Amino acid sequence: MEFSTTLNNRISIRDFKDKQISKEILKTIVSDAQQAPSWANSQPWRVYIATGDTMKEIQKSHITKTEAGLKGNSDLAVKDIKEWGELPWSNMSTWLDKVGSDETMTDFTAANVRLWNSPAMAYITVPKTTPVWSIYDAGSFAQTLMLSATDHGLDSMVAYENIKYPDEIRKNLGVSEEEIIVAGIALGYRSENKINNFTNNRLTTEKILTIK
Ligand SMILES: Cc1cc2nc3c(=O)[nH]c(=O)nc-3n(C[C@H](O)[C@H](O)[C@H](O)COP(=O)(O)O)c2cc1C
Repeated sequence: MEFSTTLNNRISIRDFKDKQISKEILKTIVSDAQQAPSWANSQPWRVYIATGDTMKEIQKSHITKTEAGLKGNSDLAVKDIKEWGELPWSNMSTWLDKVGSDETMTDFTAANVRLWNSPAMAYITVPKTTPVWSIYDAGSFAQTLMLSATDHGLDSMVAYENIKYPDEIRKNLGVSEEEIIVAGIALGYRSENKINNFTNNRLTTEKILTIK
């Protein structure tokens, strides 16, 4: 695939087909992600992938916790979005307005809760003992993994929702308390659900770039 095609095809997909991913492809995209740079080549990342019954167990637990009104307690602290600055909050409210005004999107929240019906989820961790820079490294790793997934015909969804209840991940995949769960990336094949037509724009390059 042309790089620009890969880059543009990687969008957040919020509903997946009921189709498993071969272990070979999963291994390939993780192997590709290992090309990501890291400080002192420390490669602080570890990856745990839930598939099949393990994935279903996590999805079941996620629904139960959400329905019980359990607050998220991700390993990385969450700041109130209104405190981030103007853009994230205005994006979020515009987005919620758009979703709310389209009656076919009423299951948008439900899509979050059922973890997008994804057949697989890759969780990326770094050791608690490593410096905060390891989070940077894990971010590079995550993006490389998602681009490789696209290049191999897969779709992905990185989300806070995926890691908001870390205990369900630890219990089902054996992630230790010595690791920080930095990202959860749902993987699979996009369904026809209209929710997947929902795309987001970017700021103009002029707005974010200074060259002197
Ligand atoms: C760290 C992180 C957390 C996110 N959490 C959520 C989430 O909980 N729910 C959701 O619907 N989208 C979530 N997103 C997806 C973003 O909204 C999305 O990446 C952004 O709007 C850009 O759209 P695109 O991924 O389609 O290019 C998250 C993205 C990132 C990088």
